Amino acid sequence: MIENILDRYRRKVRVRIPATTSNLGPGFDALGMALKLYNEIEVSWLKEHGEAHTEIEGEGFAHLPRGEKNPIVQAFRLLLPKTRFPWALRFRMRNRIPLGRGLGSSAAARLGGLLSAAALRDFKDAAVADMVAQAVALEGHPDNVIPAFHGGLCVSIWDGEHGGAGRHPVWLRLKIPKDLGVVVCLPDYEVSTEKARKLLPAKVPLKDAVHNVQRIALLIGALERGELGLLRTAMDDLLHQPYRRPLMRGMEAVIAAAVKAGAFGAALSGAGPSVLALTLRGPKQAKIGREMQKAFFRSGVESRYLALDVEPSGARIEIET
Ligand code: HSE
Repeated sequence: MIENILDRYRRKVRVRIPATTSNLGPGFDALGMALKLYNEIEVSWLKEHGEAHTEIEGEGFAHLPRGEKNPIVQAFRLLLPKTRFPWALRFRMRNRIPLGRGLGSSAAARLGGLLSAAALRDFKDAAVADMVAQAVALEGHPDNVIPAFHGGLCVSIWDGEHGGAGRHPVWLRLKIPKDLGVVVCLPDYEVSTEKARKLLPAKVPLKDAVHNVQRIALLIGALERGELGLLRTAMDDLLHQPYRRPLMRGMEAVIAAAVKAGAFGAALSGAGPSVLALTLRGPKQAKIGREMQKAFFRSGVESRYLALDVEPSGARIEIET
């Protein structure tokens, strides 16, 4: 019986999904950028009935749920449910994306689970675009899933009726300078996106909305034209960062320290608590990272930093026949 299945399905697939930093200050739920830091998932059938086997290496090793409760397996099961596919599967996960730090780990898990299931089906009745849309629907906002899949800096919209089945992502990859470098400083505490979103108000003053509309337009233009001196002004935000402050110990001091150390601009990475700084690739990344760490430390928070490049191509799928 398992042989029959294997005739119609691929035996083994590997999926690599990059980390993402979203919002970039004013682009709340709209802007996101893929980074060269990846989670890798390898999925293969086992010749027996039973639960999914999960082997986890790296981030989340100590506390991520195993087996069918694992978030990657749960996303995978949306396409290949256990009731219809009782054969056990082996999931090997090599996690490099820190959890709960604003680097798109949940988007990577959801997208990775769905894409690996679709790839095992050889994409029959499981178009890639539908998997991406489903991952966005699970997330509730498109700004991590879209750049994780397409790479680079993307603007994305979750279009259509609110809550309606016809919603779909509309996206565009934006032009950015080739030598753009990223520093992300990660405090030693986690904040769930859900918790960080609960702090946001249902309504904001018109002047604050205008503040962000002006800055997001400036940010996109400044990156496209290489006018990086404008980023400091362009990355300021009034729509989410001020409301999230109570959960983000050190945020403002770290943003200020990054700019003082020479970053073009800095902001909360996604829903935080990490702080993202934009600079040029090279030794300046380490200098900025160290100053950000010191600022977290002065706020009583231990941290580490990652000097990263932009991932230009997004998710990668390999199929073994
Ligand atoms: N735009 C989302 C937020 C990103 O700020 O809540 C969360 O990953």
